[in-house]
Amino acid sequence: MISNNHRLDQQLIEREDHYMATAARINYYDLVIDHAHGALLTDVDGNQYIDLLASASAINVGHTHPRVVKAIQDQAAKLIHYTPAYFHHQPEQQLAERLAKLAPGTDNEVIFGNSGSDANDAIIKFARGYTKRQYIVAYTDAYHGSTYGSMSLSGVSLNMTRHMGPLLPGVVHVPYPDTYRRLPHETDHQLALRYFHAFKAPFESYLPADETACVLIEPIQGDGGIRQAPEEYVQLVYDFCHQHGILFAVDEVNQGMGRTGKMWSIQNFPGIRPDLMSVGKSIASGMPLSAVIGRREIMESLGAPAHVFTTAANPVCCAAALATLDVLADEELVERSARLGRYAESQFLDLQTRHPRIGQVRMYGLNGGIELVTDQASQQPDPEFASDVIYAAFERGVVMITLKGNILRFQPPLVITKDQLDTALAAIDDAMTAAEQGRVHRPQGKMGW
Ligand SMILES: Cc1ncc(COP(=O)(O)O)c(C=O)c1O
Repeated sequence: MISNNHRLDQQLIEREDHYMATAARINYYDLVIDHAHGALLTDVDGNQYIDLLASASAINVGHTHPRVVKAIQDQAAKLIHYTPAYFHHQPEQQLAERLAKLAPGTDNEVIFGNSGSDANDAIIKFARGYTKRQYIVAYTDAYHGSTYGSMSLSGVSLNMTRHMGPLLPGVVHVPYPDTYRRLPHETDHQLALRYFHAFKAPFESYLPADETACVLIEPIQGDGGIRQAPEEYVQLVYDFCHQHGILFAVDEVNQGMGRTGKMWSIQNFPGIRPDLMSVGKSIASGMPLSAVIGRREIMESLGAPAHVFTTAANPVCCAAALATLDVLADEELVERSARLGRYAESQFLDLQTRHPRIGQVRMYGLNGGIELVTDQASQQPDPEFASDVIYAAFERGVVMITLKGNILRFQPPLVITKDQLDTALAAIDDAMTAAEQGRVHRPQGKMGW
């Protein structure tokens, strides 16, 4: 599928390396994307790839969807921007209403920003503002963003804390449930209780519940490895929050917008209604837009200018978001995510029978974490093998990256065709065989986080 011609990619990257700071890019392989449609990427050398990353789950409706492109073009010709800090425009009004109605619950309000990171900062502000309490509980392995607030909530990489402290005070991290590496003979119920005890431990020793503003969770973690917290565990945490007047906030930046086979990932947990929800990435098909959707009384607890950005709710971005929501609904992409996700899961499980270094296949919608280990018994992460696999897949025309070093990240655009999916899976199969046989020759240097 690819011509193996990467001359222009390499030249451009060498030049860019001279001018761009390293903190902004995680190293994988040389790919300079020229254009993209649906689930196909084309690089500057004309090579074509099937995209299994969807720009980090930011392009759920597919690249350059004609309806999104038209909405952007039409709106750009009318009004590129006027700050919502002072005045109003219709794309913002329409989107606010639509999101407020689309989120769980009946009486929501919305506030806009430019990135998932600032949306999570907003969660801290509103949770503190409403409860007048200072502490926030977040999870290990979570990625919530790169602003000071959101990176204080994160717990996934030392490079996000090293030499930049002090971070935001008042954040406590509790362990995110790992349903793969269990204690011997541990049942689902015992596992849920074990992690709930770990959640409660700080509250019993140094964290006053009545000074805790909110718990922020990804009910299905994205960068933490595409893994779902057990339903029983989430219910226990939710009930604990209710008992103690602690807000229950959900980060839907990565896992929202149909990614998990539901519109919102929290809808995989019946009966749970978040107080606050952060949304970004796919909301505007990758255009810079984010939102926090929350219960009206919480959202009314702060006054302007507590959360004002000059370029928030940009009309072109709002128009892209409105078109994105139309496409999700009209093309039934949420249902498609669930349906094709089940197919992808069966195919990865089939791969597991031939490739014993696949330790666990987790799939929630078109959204998977394929955990690669040295062997099934030890469950030891195998980042070298994972790097070989994604590099060999790239050579075979498939763009895929890793999470936590050893987990294959499977998040294609939800419009990927079954043929494209089958082609990509065959390439991964072949890439795994090549990696097992030591036939992958990738450039030196660490890949991934
Ligand atoms: C769960 C989650 N929250 C927040 C963010 C931050 O979003 P952004 O990169 O748009 O600031 C990300 C980005 O990967 C994410 O996965």
